[in-house]
Amino acid sequence: MSVWRNLLVSAVLVGLAAAVPVLASDALSAKGTCVACHLAKQKLVGPSWHDIAVKYKGKPDAPKKLFDVVRKGGKGVWGPLAMLPVGRDRISDAELTTLIAWTLKTP
Ligand code: HEC
Repeated sequence: MSVWRNLLVSAVLVGLAAAVPVLASDALSAKGTCVACHLAKQKLVGPSWHDIAVKYKGKPDAPKKLFDVVRKGGKGVWGPLAMLPVGRDRISDAELTTLIAWTLKTP
């Protein structure tokens, strides 16, 4: 009986641990007003964090490339809509680096 209970507790804890980066990235994404166009799992104006994670999986230059897209803007990768440049007044370099690292791990 208690073995099952322990397994259940472990499963819940693993689930919580996996959810933390997503929640943290949600907070930064709200602060940078990225949420106006990006959600974790659902395409909105821009691609979901999940879709970005899938697209750039295993690409070592992705963090730097995506950092530049956010700062300079980008278009034509996901569709007709452009990603407008987002400056340091909305999200600092450190916050953006953290947010992109989390984005690339979004399950
Ligand atoms: C006004 C809407 C809007 C806002 C606000 C916005 N984005 Fe985007 N974003 C887009 C669109 C549209 C695209 C797809 C561009 C394309 O097809 O190349 C995109 C693409 C991206 C990509 C993928 C780029 C690529 O080349 O694959 C990343 C990463 C990203 N956005 C991060 C962010 C972050 C971080 C923020 C907040 C600091 C943010 N976006 C705010 C609309 C937005």
